[in-house]
Amino acid sequence: MSGSELSGTLLREFAAVVGDAHVLTGDAAAGYAVDWTGRFRGHAAAVLRPGGTAEVAAVLALCRNAGVPVVPQGGNTGLVGGGVPRHGEVVLSLARLDKLGPVDADAAQVTAGAGVTLRRVADVAPGLDLGVLIASRDSATVGGAVAANAGGLRVLRYGPMRAQVRGVEAVLADGTVVSHLAGLVKDNTGYDYPGLLAGSEGTLAVVTAVRIQLVPRPASPVTVIIGLAGPGEVHDLARAALRAVPGLLSAEYFTAAGLDVLAEHAGLVPPLRAPAFLLLEAAGPGADDDLAALAGDHPVAVGTTAADRARLWACRERHPEAAGFLGVPLKLDVSVPAAHWTALATEVGGVVAAVDPAARVISYGHVADGNLHVNVVPAAEADGRHEDAVFGFVASLGGSISAEHGIGALKARWLPLVRSAPERALFARIRAAFDPDGILNPHVLPR
Ligand code: MLT
Ligand code: ZN
Repeated sequence: MSGSELSGTLLREFAAVVGDAHVLTGDAAAGYAVDWTGRFRGHAAAVLRPGGTAEVAAVLALCRNAGVPVVPQGGNTGLVGGGVPRHGEVVLSLARLDKLGPVDADAAQVTAGAGVTLRRVADVAPGLDLGVLIASRDSATVGGAVAANAGGLRVLRYGPMRAQVRGVEAVLADGTVVSHLAGLVKDNTGYDYPGLLAGSEGTLAVVTAVRIQLVPRPASPVTVIIGLAGPGEVHDLARAALRAVPGLLSAEYFTAAGLDVLAEHAGLVPPLRAPAFLLLEAAGPGADDDLAALAGDHPVAVGTTAADRARLWACRERHPEAAGFLGVPLKLDVSVPAAHWTALATEVGGVVAAVDPAARVISYGHVADGNLHVNVVPAAEADGRHEDAVFGFVASLGGSISAEHGIGALKARWLPLVRSAPERALFARIRAAFDPDGILNPHVLPR
């Protein structure tokens, strides 16, 4: 389907709602039809850029009446193709819903439009911060972060995006607006649909605004990178940090394989040399002493100033780009119970090599969450063999085939590895209750 395949009448009806300038077709729509890794490409029948909730409601009603499928899109920073119109859908871009309300200082909350970037929320007030910190925060938006239930670099302390949500305004597939934005901490008055929309990947409703619980901005954070022999030492030290460092914010893993690529292609200067690295960040009284005691005799780089911390963080935060310097990566985001993380991180390279000996593998992730990002640059055809191997291994360890990035379109076929038939049937019934005509992201998550 292309823009020209939507009827002229429908395109004119869209334009009557959002304005001519905000109905994009052809070349103008192309940038909305590919993700940033280049792995997921599609074409949009049209891109609609509504300017407010009422316009979202009106265009959704038009799409539903015309039987036109819709892919909601935020900052297009997703990693599973969930925001890409892979089957010629209409893209509903929420970018213009960018109003950020005043901070409610009593509750430490703010209401943000779906198109507000996570960076703007984090910077909304000097003493406050957003609990979710992800590398794509300058582009990633509130609506997308809720729909994906974004995780990131501080989940061990503050939880994922779902944990920051105190309320939601959303538009159902038929154009009905549901809104619950008072931000009450205690509110047992029925089903927690904001919680359900978190992680729904645009399949249940279109999130238009979110009431966000903010957290106190961490005081005087200290960042260290500790050089270690391998995943076993990384895991053990991260566990020790969880027990011994009360102000711990992050415990992140990466290896020389990724850092060497970033040194060669992105000009990063490695702060120290080792096979594996544990980045820890902590804040509050005694954080520097706690981290120094933990590092013991291991080689360590310490950052206390903003510039030094940023330099250390770049070693971890630029890892999502590393595999991209070598080719178009498969980004496999998996988690396992804590007791199996070392086995996962140690053995996954061999698991990939067994099906594609010349593949390049760069792993990194959030060690305290049992989460590993296995980035594979295939040498053999990317025909599902890499996912079969890695996901099968993860399932054998009792893990998840998507820790934080979601299922999207292409991982749906592996969902039965980790979700039973009754669970999937329940998912389908929930989905049918929200979107009986099946127009919202129809190719994401199994129906
Ligand atoms: C990260 O932890 O860096 C993000 O989940 C992005 C990625 O895995 O590429
Ligand atoms: Zn991650």
